[in-house]
Amino acid sequence: MTQEQQKMLAGHHAAQFVQDGMVVGIGSGSTIAHVIQALGERVAQENLKIVGVATSEKTRRNAAQLGIPMYNVDDVDKIDLTIDGADQIADDFSAIKGGGAALLWEKIVAFNSLENIWVVDASKRVDKLNQYLPVEVIPYGANQLFKRFAAEGFQPTWRLDQNGNPVRTDSANFLIDLHLPEIEQPRALGDELIKMVGVVEHGLFTDVVDRVVIGQPDNTVQIL
Ligand code: 5RP
Repeated sequence: MTQEQQKMLAGHHAAQFVQDGMVVGIGSGSTIAHVIQALGERVAQENLKIVGVATSEKTRRNAAQLGIPMYNVDDVDKIDLTIDGADQIADDFSAIKGGGAALLWEKIVAFNSLENIWVVDASKRVDKLNQYLPVEVIPYGANQLFKRFAAEGFQPTWRLDQNGNPVRTDSANFLIDLHLPEIEQPRALGDELIKMVGVVEHGLFTDVVDRVVIGQPDNTVQIL
């Protein structure tokens, strides 16, 4: 199976964890597009009654178009279950997220959820995290922060759009991607980053996930 087919397989499988009456946090990215599609079909065909909380404006629009009622995170008492994607998931269930620039809202929704499921294709599983790490920063003073990241040896690059302008997140912040070797201690690195003035949030997610749904090349689903 192709990577896209694995994402679809895992996404459709994960959508089955959603039950009638739930408030559902809905992640962002191409894998979650399949979850949104499957949830939209369940809403239409099974008369599934759910409320969604989006982790990005794009997700909010796409889910609403498929008939899923979407609420703001501050307008719900609790989120029962959040289903989100990930860029990498390590053996210790730490993850890098934010490839789609939605890490801040994703983390806020995840930390307000009673349960979190990540949905990925098999390529996302690694022993240790070793991909670029997105960091969301306040625009004011961002150049200074960039220089500090460089001085720390984090090999920063700006996240730019196709016109060469800085990508703006849904909260109008910038993204700086850090190019590190293997991340041996994600919690310690996350603690270090979040203490740096101007950092809003980083893409290291530790102690978040309850279940991982993986679409495999052999057309099976693995659940961890
Ligand atoms: C967005 C994310 C996504 O979950 C992550 O980038 C995975 O995306 P995809 O499913 O397209 O591979 O963290 O900020």
